[in-house]
Amino acid sequence: MQERTHTCGELTAKNIDEVVTLYGWIHTRRDHGGLIFIDLWDKYGLTQVVLNPQIDQLAHQEAHSLRGNFVISVRGKVRSRPEDMINPKLKTGEIEVFIEQLEILNPSNTPPFTGWEHQEVGEATRLKHRYLDLRSNELQKNLELRYQITRVARDVLDKAKFIEIETPILTKSTPEGARDYLVPSRLNPQKFYALPQSPQLFKQILMVSGMDRYFQIVKCFRDEDLRLDRQPEFTQIDMEMSFVNEKQIFALVEDMIASIYKQTLDIRIETPFAILKYQDAINRFGSDKPDLRFGLELVDVSEVVRGAGFKVFAQALDDGGQVKAINIKNSADSLSRKALDDLTEVAKTYGAKGMAWIKIQQNELQSPIIKFFEKEILDKLIKTVKGEPGDTIVFSADNPKIVADSLANVRLSAAKLLNLIEDNLIKLVWVTEFPLVEYNEEQNRNTAMHHPFTAPLEEDLEKFESNPNEMRARAYDLVLNGNEIGGGSVRIHRRDIQQKMFKLLGIEKEEAELKFGFLLDALQYGAPPHAGIAFGLDRIAMLLAGAPSIREVIAFPKTQKATCLMTQAPSEIDSKQLKELALKYDLS
Ligand code: AMO
Ligand code: AMP
Repeated sequence: MQERTHTCGELTAKNIDEVVTLYGWIHTRRDHGGLIFIDLWDKYGLTQVVLNPQIDQLAHQEAHSLRGNFVISVRGKVRSRPEDMINPKLKTGEIEVFIEQLEILNPSNTPPFTGWEHQEVGEATRLKHRYLDLRSNELQKNLELRYQITRVARDVLDKAKFIEIETPILTKSTPEGARDYLVPSRLNPQKFYALPQSPQLFKQILMVSGMDRYFQIVKCFRDEDLRLDRQPEFTQIDMEMSFVNEKQIFALVEDMIASIYKQTLDIRIETPFAILKYQDAINRFGSDKPDLRFGLELVDVSEVVRGAGFKVFAQALDDGGQVKAINIKNSADSLSRKALDDLTEVAKTYGAKGMAWIKIQQNELQSPIIKFFEKEILDKLIKTVKGEPGDTIVFSADNPKIVADSLANVRLSAAKLLNLIEDNLIKLVWVTEFPLVEYNEEQNRNTAMHHPFTAPLEEDLEKFESNPNEMRARAYDLVLNGNEIGGGSVRIHRRDIQQKMFKLLGIEKEEAELKFGFLLDALQYGAPPHAGIAFGLDRIAMLLAGAPSIREVIAFPKTQKATCLMTQAPSEIDSKQLKELALKYDLS
């Protein structure tokens, strides 16, 4: 067979009478009064080719053996389709190729499904036969989009004088808050490498080396509980810069994100992005990744209801907690009793003991709790939440964390339930000034909110000893429609401050030396002020593709249980390998 002259997605009426050679897969095949019509598929499209087994080079028999998914090549003349067979939906819909020569390059078994209609099969089957699944239009488009995102990112960073530098995969633990994946070392029995949770320490050390602007599109590995937006191995667009402040990082990143939107989806994004301090995000939305596509903000009503006769609220306030409310506008009619019960369940999932509510009807209030309130307090309460007839007010009373978590999720659920989120809206926001550390009850110590290399705000430096839990970090997250797509910080570049930070985290000197000695060493030899950020490429691709999970934008993703259904990884190893690695396991 000759070389391919065209793909299956490009022939139009302009090519009529040309003799062409196409290669592809049999997508569908129809027998029609002696003629066989084949839709030939490749990633570029479908072309109808017509076989007349009587006059073709191919034996009659063989023509009838052609089945879906066979790989074939055909050579023949392009001709226009009869008027009534024109398919305006296809780019190639005006033409067909009349086959003069056909070659079967590879037959195919009957597949469990064809990627072309993958929607109808369960995800487990799709993942097991990912090669078929990946033939689907959607996944082809998603992977193309993912590639274009990285292409644009590389372009923007290249123009801004970044260079891509690879860092080791077999390395030492990086503390990003997850468990490590470990790799035993054969040459160093009983010693282990850790797969990087991020290239954090290496990129900082590259700054000490004077690399000035580093980036890397890089795999990271975290052994953590998986969700729709979390995979055990995922990809970051990772960056680090010397001699910059937050403002410069934001400008660069905004240019990158705007370019990605413009060049992949032709969408113009307004810059600069909004900035919201962590504490304001928590106060107003209950979340450090607020979805700003709709209102439903949280209102603190603690002072209004303090002293009222409702035990639930009084108790929470007595225990040092708070009472907050959301006014769900114009929902009194649409939020049924069942919907309110469902929202209460959401609140309970996030630790709340219940979710009190008041519906403001035209002439009355409807609620299981108003009987506990005097009219004056009720009036003030309604005024505080700007209640009007038609609104529903929901409440959470508990410690601040539970109030925030429960109402943040009630807010999201209510917005979905009431269809408050406009299609095509894109809301990007920087969340800044995170607390430097948070107290971990279980471990009985402070842990870094971002990671231990994040610098505190200059003005908070003096609080290391006096009031560390009030220290704010020079950290920032970028949030897109309620999804954290990136996070970074200005780093600590001085050894003494890094040591103070380790001390605050309860990491003893010896332990710090053991784990991060190389970083502390490097910080002694002229570490420049530096800062950086890393983006979750999978999440960005998921959001731009409008996909429901990051699995839809990863060629070979893992399941919720971190397995690969296609390769069957992870798998057992034999005793010889165990011995070589000086490993033993005892399942008793
Ligand atoms: P962080 O831990 O915030 O920061 O990670 C950066 C971004 O990576 C994405 N991400 C994930 N995506 C898919 N699956 C996961 N399991 C997963 N975990 C994280 C998120 C997140 O915003 N070294 C720092 C960055 C820095 O300080 O420069 C870091 O890794 O979108
Ligand atoms: P109860 O007195 O327990 O029957 O609760 C009366 C109402 O208050 C119900 O609608 C509960 O869902 C609600 N409620 C209970 N605990 C809380 C809480 N911690 N915060 C807000 N509402 C609550």
